[in-house]
Amino acid sequence: MPLPKAELHLHIEGTLEPELAFTLAHRNGITLPHPTVQDLRAAYSFTDLQSFLNLYYELMDVLRTEADFTDLANAYLTRAAAQGVRHAEIFFDPQAHTSRGIPLDTVVNGLAAALDTSLRDHGISTALILCFLRDRPASEALHTLHQARPHLHRISAVGLDSAEVGHPPQNFTAVFAAARDLGLRCVAHAGEEGPPSYIWQALNLLHAERIDHGIRALEDPDLLAHLARTQTPLTVCPLSNVRLRAVPTFAQHPLPALLDAGLLVTVNSDDPSYFGGYVHDNYEALRTHLGLDEATLRQLARNSFTASFLPPERKKALI
Ligand code: ADE
Ligand code: ZN
Repeated sequence: MPLPKAELHLHIEGTLEPELAFTLAHRNGITLPHPTVQDLRAAYSFTDLQSFLNLYYELMDVLRTEADFTDLANAYLTRAAAQGVRHAEIFFDPQAHTSRGIPLDTVVNGLAAALDTSLRDHGISTALILCFLRDRPASEALHTLHQARPHLHRISAVGLDSAEVGHPPQNFTAVFAAARDLGLRCVAHAGEEGPPSYIWQALNLLHAERIDHGIRALEDPDLLAHLARTQTPLTVCPLSNVRLRAVPTFAQHPLPALLDAGLLVTVNSDDPSYFGGYVHDNYEALRTHLGLDEATLRQLARNSFTASFLPPERKKALI
């Protein structure tokens, strides 16, 4: 049985399985550039983050209606339940949809229809994290935050994702300050492909409470010591890092070194449809390729609840 766990780094658009992509394309009268599911799967061979993002954004074209977003979220929640997930803090990328004419209301209402019944239907409590695309202007992010105001009761936090290098967190300082003023929590992708200085910026300028990925923290001993002292969680995604070649092989993944340095590490799936596994599969890969023992895997699962935005009582009940 998979360990009970929280998933804290999961892009809902990255759970779009090829089969569902074809179903939605058919339903919406769209022709995909890949003729079959097999052809599409064959395109899942990436050389870096950007090569993945190109396909990730292209396939989102099949997401058009509220029902599409509901079906996407329900498909993820069904899989997540089978992987032991009891709580999921789910990223979504509004600008990837509004920029192609899909209203934010359609996205949020569609996702909410699945999330609102998730505890009852799947035994999974949920939270939504609105991510800003860092390779688009900060002014657009601010506009997105304003558009989201009618939905703030459904949104727990803001995040920062998309192409990292050349798009430092400092560009989004004002947007994150505005989000905090609205009562939102803050997380940010940093140190996936970008340098340790981006992690410092996420902490000091964006006031990120968790760092998504953060694996390049290992290159900066002062940063490593800071993250250990403050117990700032890292949401690490091992299969993603291997597939996007942020690390050369699974055997060389830095997760054990991050644990040895005393960091609050969690294990997550990022974009599981694209990276060959959901969250339990990431735990199993850590066992198989890095020899992590049962006690360490249990600690990682406990960390996932500790690092979540759950209220203390539910945390205690789940740990
Ligand atoms: N958007 C979806 N997956 C991502 C990742 N791994 N890094 C940055 N942005 C993303
Ligand atoms: Zn991510």
